Parts: sequence; structure tokens; C-alpha cells
Amino acid sequence: TGLHTEMIAKGKNWFGAALTIRNPVDAQERAIVDNYADFGSITPENAMKWESTEPSRGVFTFDGADAIRDYAATQKKQIHCHNLVWHSQLPLWVSQGKFDNATLISIMYDHIKAVAGRYKGSCTRWDVVNEALNEDGTYRSSVFYDTIGESFIPLAFKFASEIDPNAKLYYNDYNLEYNNAKTDAAARIVALVKSHGVKIQGVGFQAHLTSESTPTSAAVTPDQGVLEAALKKMTVQGVNVAYTELDVRMNTPVTPAKQAAQAEAYARVVRSCMAVEKCEGITIWGITDKYSWIPGVFIGEGSALVWDENYKPKPAYFAMLKAIQES
Ligand code: G3I
Repeated sequence: TGLHTEMIAKGKNWFGAALTIRNPVDAQERAIVDNYADFGSITPENAMKWESTEPSRGVFTFDGADAIRDYAATQKKQIHCHNLVWHSQLPLWVSQGKFDNATLISIMYDHIKAVAGRYKGSCTRWDVVNEALNEDGTYRSSVFYDTIGESFIPLAFKFASEIDPNAKLYYNDYNLEYNNAKTDAAARIVALVKSHGVKIQGVGFQAHLTSESTPTSAAVTPDQGVLEAALKKMTVQGVNVAYTELDVRMNTPVTPAKQAAQAEAYARVVRSCMAVEKCEGITIWGITDKYSWIPGVFIGEGSALVWDENYKPKPAYFAMLKAIQES
């Protein structure tokens, strides 16, 4: 038994992890992610992003993304494809290209056509637009928003749905878990896309959370009620939701008490998904703390994942398994 098989047994669609294929492959990490009982879905951590797939205009590099696709096919895992339109990890030729509206729309179309077209049939889901919002719920300034306006969002979904009609199309963002102005704004994005008659089927709650007050964030993982209310703000509009990039960081060094608090935070997140019918799955943002993005970005924080640097499962693993089984 494992996280994925228990989710399936409860009527959910997946438990998964973000994957980077290392060179050479880390056999210990690979053995964990290979285990289908725990992981029935993978998200490419970086390999499908714009800078990885179209580093110069019209020049496509698919080696990394193909390797992810081949791995998932061999392992019979779903792929949560990530992502098509994002202001970050965007090559300078796009972000500083000073294109007019029509040209940037055609660049967006060509990118989606090439990338979503190549992986058509392999992507169970696509994060079509990633992180379009500021914390106060206004739109984030980006080359897409500044040039095209908010309609870059329905346009991206329209293109993706034409090119890969079978993938479930997601809007994906962080800090939606607190049920605040940003959560409201994500719900408005769902309504906006629908108002254009365009398909949107899910909202991804990244869930980069903390288990205690940290130097960079005062916001700890919300109570289960808040988490559920935030998810339901989307599901009332008929779309699915999922936790797409879950990790729960802490101030380092780690202690047993902090690990226990972290385990409870992970379990709360899982329980909120189990309690909301249209919450269809959960993906954690990596396997072992050895490679987590957290320490490089949040100085003094870490230990955010579910396996430690020595590939040993933490209390969070067992707490999540129990939370799924008991739901
Ligand atoms: O590939 C280059 C390598 O050639 C170079 O030598 C090295 C030196 O810095 O950088 C490598 O690129 C790094 C890349 O990951 C691949 O490892 C970038 O520096 C690094 O910034 C990049 O970080 C990624 C980050 O997105 C970028 O924003 C993280 O791995 C990835 O976990 C993270 O994931 C994002 C999601 O896509 C969206 N939501 C937030 C989440 C966390 O930031």
C-alpha cells in the first residue's frame, strides 16, 4: 500500500511528485519515485518550461521533456505537464522582445502548439497558465499581461484546448490556500475563462507552505476549515482542484518537535483534499530534501519534503498515509 493506491481507493485520481531526471540518475531517489504504490503521477520540475523547450524563437529542445515522457510511459504514471505560459523561467527573447499584441499572441500560440502538440496524449493535465496573480489579487505585471491584457489567460486556455483536447486544463498558483484576496482572484480567473466560452477544468493550489512562523513568512499552514473553504471557492464553479506543488518548510535545524508539527500540517492539507469531492489529487514538490528548492530561496529554511537527505521517510509520510486511509 502507499499514498497513490490509497488515494485511488478513496476515489481520488492521483498522488504524485515533481521529478527532475538527474545526471547521473540518483538510484536511491529513483527507487522511491518508481514505487507506483506511492506515486501514480509525476510533474516535470523544470523540463517542460519555456526556457527548457524554446530557448530561442522557433528553436525547440525537447530532450529533457522527452525523457520525462518516456519515464512516465515506462512506469505507467500520469504526467501533470507544467507549464505553458509563465512569467518566470521565460527566455529573454520573449520577456524582453518588445513584441506588439498580435505578435506576442502568435508567439504564445506557436509555443503551445509545439509543446502541447508534442506531448498530446501523454499529458493527463496541463498547467496552462502559471502564477498570473499578485498577493493582493491584482494581475501580476508580466510581458503577457502588459502586452495582451488579461485576455492572455483565456487565449492560452483556448489554444491549449484546441491542441490537446483530452488533457485537463489547469490554472496554477501559490498562496491560494489562505482563502483571501488572491483566492478570490483565482476564482475570477475561472469565471473569466468560462465567460469566453473556453474550457478550464481545474485550479492548482501549489501549497508551498510552512509549518511554523519563518523568517520570510508569518503565515503557517492554515487550519483545515480555511483550506477547505479556499478549495470550495473554485469547486462551486464546477472546476476541479488539486494540490500541485505541496511542500511544508520549517526553520532549520530540524528537531523532532518540528517534524511532528510538519507532519500535522501535511496531514491537514491531505484531509482538506479528502473532504472536498472535486479535489482530485495531490502532488508533492520533490522527493528528498537533498534536492529541494527551498534552502536556495528561503535562507535558513528547509527540510520541507517528505523524505530526508538520507532518503528516510519522515513522520509526514505516515501522517499523510493515515489521513488518506481514515478519510
Ligand atoms: O539548469 C541550470 C544549470 O545549467 C545552471 O548551472 C544552474 C546554476 O544556477 O541553474 C540551473 O537552473 C536552475 C533550474 O532550477 C534547474 O535546476 C535554476 O538556477 C533554478 O532557479 C531553477 O529553480 C527552479 C524554480 O522553479 C525556478 O523558478 C526549481 O528547480 C523549481 O523547483 C521551481 O519550481 C517552481 C514551479 O515551477 C512553479 N511554482 C513555484 C516552484 C518553486 O519555485
